[in-house]
Amino acid sequence: MGNVVVIGSQWGDEGKGKIVDWLSERADVVVRFQGGHNAGHTLVVDGVSYKLSLMPSGVVRQGKLSVIGNGVVFDPHAFVAEKGRLAAQGVEISPQSLRIADNAALILSVHRELDAIRETSSTGTKIGTTGRGIGPAYEDKVGRRAIRVMDLANVDVLPERIERLLAHHNPLRRGLGQAEIDPAAILEELTSVAAEITPYIDRVWRLLDERRKAGERILFEGAQGTLLDIDHGTYPFVTSSNTVAGQAAAGSGLGPSSIGFVLGITKAYTTRVGEGPFPTEQDNEVGQFLGEAGHEFGTVTGRKRRCGWFDAVLVRQAVAVNGIHGLALTKLDVLDGLDEIKVGVGYRLDGKVIDYLPASLADQRRAEPVYETFEGWRETTRGARRWSDLPAQAIKYVRHIEELVGAPVTLLSTSPEREDTILVRDPFQD
Ligand code: IMP
Repeated sequence: MGNVVVIGSQWGDEGKGKIVDWLSERADVVVRFQGGHNAGHTLVVDGVSYKLSLMPSGVVRQGKLSVIGNGVVFDPHAFVAEKGRLAAQGVEISPQSLRIADNAALILSVHRELDAIRETSSTGTKIGTTGRGIGPAYEDKVGRRAIRVMDLANVDVLPERIERLLAHHNPLRRGLGQAEIDPAAILEELTSVAAEITPYIDRVWRLLDERRKAGERILFEGAQGTLLDIDHGTYPFVTSSNTVAGQAAAGSGLGPSSIGFVLGITKAYTTRVGEGPFPTEQDNEVGQFLGEAGHEFGTVTGRKRRCGWFDAVLVRQAVAVNGIHGLALTKLDVLDGLDEIKVGVGYRLDGKVIDYLPASLADQRRAEPVYETFEGWRETTRGARRWSDLPAQAIKYVRHIEELVGAPVTLLSTSPEREDTILVRDPFQD
């Protein structure tokens, strides 16, 4: 199969950073294909912790090409700031190691402001966004008025692009009781950063096609998770991009026949940041235990994550919509020491038991989980590197999850350390 796509099979924060880092060591090219700097991937390499938001995980390794694809919404100032933070940690990023798609849409201050205005307004639906301007930037892209990365290389076109953008935003802002934006301010925002971005701009679809033909291994690095997908997630409490594996093709310009192995990162329990339905949420001492044992705080916003039992219904659905070949199961050790462990296996709705998450928000809110209860284990699974290091009950739990969701565990992560991983199948070798 050659290439690998890594996606989150729940609401994000499944522990993608470690798995992507582990895989990026084996890859030649690492590609981001959706989202933006709303993502937060923590990598621990040789004991040093790196926090990445917009940058593909390949940047921390020598000799890898990192690519920001057209499906990403690109904040040029956030890029420069992240590049600076990485440089302070000794990671140099250059056009030799990183390329940005010419046709990616930009995130501007006007998008961040609109995100904040909506989230703090007393009317409307509060989504609990990361406040990075992601949604408003995608709106402008779909509305065909976005300023794109390529425009930074041709500042002569900017005044006309800005006029078009503000013809939409200024009336909107007036309606929201906000001051209008001066086109000169946006022009300054763009021209002040253009020279730092232009050396990285590339025709990414062609670059990836060439690398594919040369037999290089490409890793597609998904951000967020399937239940945050704009189509397949818990709408409207979702992010504004397609987070599913199919987007790896559209969001990079490499055709779907080259996508290869789909690896679904799956946490051994469930978490969610922000608002929205969460059927197996445990707003009690169990949730507190999981949150503390799992250090469940957001990398980007520092927000406390909501915690609950593993929901096999959701992950089974994620296996289907992504075409997941195998799971990377993470944070099993967080369940160590629990007397009993529950797993959601269906929902009760209007007196019937259903085996899928209904599409309507009202039904998602009413769906009551049906649980199976497992006996827990006393021993630690932390740091296990072989199946024989795991307690029998933990193996039983993993095997049952595989059966319930209909996909095998190809990789089991037992601590944040890279080596604490049980590899069943190497996704790149498939
Ligand atoms: P936005 O992507 O900032 O528009 O936020 C929309 C929703 O997606 C909110 O519930 C966020 O908490 C959630 N979200 C966005 N990025 C991430 C992520 O990387 N991990 C987990 N949740 C995320």
